[in-house]
Amino acid sequence: MVDPHQSFFDTLNWFDEKDCEQLDAELAWARQECPIVHTEFDGGMYVITRYDDLRTVAEHPEVFSSAMPGVVPVPVALPPLDLDPPLHRDFRAFLNKYFSRAFLSKYTAVMENLVDELVDGFVDRGEFEFVSEFAIPFSAGSLARIVLDDKNEERMARAIDAVTAVAVTQNPESYGGVAAIAMELLAERAEGGDERDDFLQGIVSATVEGGRSLTQAEMLGVVTVLMLGGLDTTRGAIAYIGRFLAEVDGVEERMRRPEWKRKDIDEFLRFTSTVSVMGRVLTEDTELLGCPMKAGERLAVHWRSGSRDESKFERPDELVFDREKNPHAAFGFGIHRCLGQHFARLQLEIAFDRLLARVTNFRVKPGTVVREAVGISNRAPEELHLQFDRVTTPATSPAREGALQA
Ligand code: HEM
Repeated sequence: MVDPHQSFFDTLNWFDEKDCEQLDAELAWARQECPIVHTEFDGGMYVITRYDDLRTVAEHPEVFSSAMPGVVPVPVALPPLDLDPPLHRDFRAFLNKYFSRAFLSKYTAVMENLVDELVDGFVDRGEFEFVSEFAIPFSAGSLARIVLDDKNEERMARAIDAVTAVAVTQNPESYGGVAAIAMELLAERAEGGDERDDFLQGIVSATVEGGRSLTQAEMLGVVTVLMLGGLDTTRGAIAYIGRFLAEVDGVEERMRRPEWKRKDIDEFLRFTSTVSVMGRVLTEDTELLGCPMKAGERLAVHWRSGSRDESKFERPDELVFDREKNPHAAFGFGIHRCLGQHFARLQLEIAFDRLLARVTNFRVKPGTVVREAVGISNRAPEELHLQFDRVTTPATSPAREGALQA
C-alpha cells in the first residue's frame, strides 16, 4: 500500500491551496520519517526538511548551487540570489553596506511618516483591510523610497505606484513599470551629478570580477531581486503579525513593551517564515543522509520546516516568546543569508510601533474570512478585515514611551 504521506509529496504542488493547508503537518511527518523526501513537482526535486541538513546544504554552495534559486524556474537574472562564489561574494561585498542597520537607520523618519499617513487614512473608520491598506502600501512604499530614492517627487510617486502594483498583482508583467523607472534612474546616476551615497549610486559605481562594472542586465537584476525579495516577504510577515494581534491573547500587550524588538520579533519570524522554501541544484553526485543524488538534480530547501524542527525548537508549532535561544532559519543560512534582514526587522518595528501608538484592541471583523497565500509565503494572510479602537492618549510611540493606557 502506498504511504499517504509519501503520496502527498509525490503529487505536491507548492501553489495548490489544499496542499498548502496540509503542508506544515506533512513536513512534520517528513522530518521524523523521511527527512529528504522526493516530490514529482516540476520534473522532480528533493525536499530538505531538517534544520541540520538545511545548514549543510546552505554551507556548501560548491555542491548545492543557487543557479536555480526557486522551486519554479525564474526567467530573469537575480544577482546575488542566483550566483555562486566567487561572483556572489563580489556582489555581496558592495550590497551589504546599503542593507546594514546603520545605513538604513537614516530612512527611519521616511518609514515612520509613511505609517502615520496610512493610519490617517483609516483611523476614523474603526476598521480596515489590513493587507491592502497597511501591509502592502507600507512595505512597497518603504522599498521604493529606499531602493529607488529619487529627488524627483513626481517620479518617486510613480515608482511607489509601480512597486505597489507589483505587490498587489504579484505577476511578472507588472514589474515592467518598475524596471522602466529603475533604468531611467540608473542611466541618470551613471551620467553623474548626483553625489548621494545611496543604493543606486552603489550599483552604478560597483565593480566585480577584479574591476569591471556591472552590466545593464546585472544592474536591473539587482533591482529586480530586491523587489522580489523585499515585497511579499515583509508584507507577509506584517500581515501575519496583524492577525496574531487580533487572534492571539496577550500579543498586543507584549508588543507595547520596548523589549518585543529584541526577542519576540524573532519568534514571529521563526513562526511565519514567509520565504518558506527556495531551490538549489546539484553540481556533482553526492549523498545526504544516505540518500544518493545526481549532478543536475534539484532540491527544495524548506526554511520554514527547519524553523519548526522539533529537535531544535520545543513546541515548534506555537508562538513561544520566552525561548532562551531562537536560531531560526527564516532568513536562511550561509552565504545567501537574507540581504534584507535588517531592513525587514526595521520595517516590522516601525510599522507596529507607530500603528499601536494610535489604535488598539484589534479583532477580525465578524462575517469576514481571512484569505491565506499559497506558494513561497504560504499561509500569510492576503485579506484580513480588522476592527479596532482608537488610542485616546497622545499619539506617541509605545515602544519609546512605555505601556499606553488604551
Ligand atoms: C520577513 C522578511 C524576509 C524574509 C523571511 C526573507 C527571507 C530570505 C531567505 C530565507 C533568503 C535566503 C534564500 C536562499 O538561501 O536561497 C533570503 C535572501 C535574500 N533576501 Fe530576504 N527575506 C525577507 C526580507 C527581505 C527584504 C526586505 C529584502 C530586500 C529589500 C530581501 C532581499 C533578499 C536578497 C537580495 C536575498 C538574496 C541574498 C543572496 O543571495 O546573497 N529580503 N531572504
